[in-house]
Amino acid sequence: MPPAKVIGRVSELPAIWFRDNCRCGVCVDEKSGQKLHGILDVSPETEIEAVESDGEDLVVTVSPDGHRCVLPAGLVLGKEAVRDARSELAKTLWSADELAGSLPRVEWSQYDSDPHVRKDALSEVVRLGFVLLTGTPVARAGVLAIARTFGYVRETNYGELFDVRVEPAPTNLAFSGRGLAPHTDNPYRDPVPTLQLLHCLRNALEGGDSGLVDGYAAAALLREEDPDAFAVLTTTDVPFFWRDATASLRALRPLISLDSTGGIREIRFNNRSMQPLTGPAAMLADFYRGYRRFAEIIMRPEMRVTFRLEPGDCLVVDNTRLLHSRTAFREGGEGGRHLQGCYADLDGLLSTIEVLGGRHGTT
Ligand code: OGA
Ligand code: ZN
Ligand code: ZN
Repeated sequence: MPPAKVIGRVSELPAIWFRDNCRCGVCVDEKSGQKLHGILDVSPETEIEAVESDGEDLVVTVSPDGHRCVLPAGLVLGKEAVRDARSELAKTLWSADELAGSLPRVEWSQYDSDPHVRKDALSEVVRLGFVLLTGTPVARAGVLAIARTFGYVRETNYGELFDVRVEPAPTNLAFSGRGLAPHTDNPYRDPVPTLQLLHCLRNALEGGDSGLVDGYAAAALLREEDPDAFAVLTTTDVPFFWRDATASLRALRPLISLDSTGGIREIRFNNRSMQPLTGPAAMLADFYRGYRRFAEIIMRPEMRVTFRLEPGDCLVVDNTRLLHSRTAFREGGEGGRHLQGCYADLDGLLSTIEVLGGRHGTT
């Protein structure tokens, strides 16, 4: 007989849950581990008849088909609760003060040779929203090889890889010497690329320093300081747009998106590609009040960590959470400034953490 608390838990749960989640060799394909039946194959009249222990597993016999459902006891007791790795609940929110000069920096040679170092480095992207890989090879297209150590490169309208350097006729202000206020990239994409990599090949000009802001922390402060503004920004769809000769991309999403429990799950913030909102005058006024409040929090000096990318540094950033910025730099100077970037996605990074032995999706 299983312990009383297990029996108690079993009796609380719907019998159909046991029948549907049985992991026996009849219910689950042995090779792929995938479930073989659908919900319509399970009787709505399912009832529990008996409960036994079998080591780590419970065996719950149900009627009407008399099936012996095998489930891990930990799952039945709620120890394998699934958690969304993208929700604010799975994160450590930070201000620059809290990071206190201890940026998550990982030396490339260690990252490249030690799977534990790699797992921990990638876990920082989940926890803090970024990691700075230092001492990577200063090689053209090296950023693609870096991305492929943990995920799948996401080709976009900018190509597999994009060069961030001064261009004579920039299609994006990133390709000029202008400063860039804290922003997320590609908010005009839906789905948005969830990871951004920036790999420094040269940074020899005055200016061009980098900054990062935790957009979830800024949104959480807005929620605390001005709940009405937070409510407006989470419920107002904002049009974003970008175009050049070959692409015309639009997305309509709020500045702050929430998950089904009300937790912060995605930030889009980019003054360069925001389009005019339309709607009732009062709605527009409310939106502008909230947008300004949010921007004021984002721009607080204590929110932003600043640093300078050196050749061989590669920044890996959660583009659904962190905002990145750079200061202006003088165009046309000696030596120049040249970064290469690419996009990838968080689900691939989370997968690599799991393959390396980590857990992220469960509590
Ligand atoms: C970008 C960008 C930052 C930099 O290319 O999207 O924000 O430091 N670049 O040049
Ligand atoms: Zn079964
Ligand atoms: Zn950018």
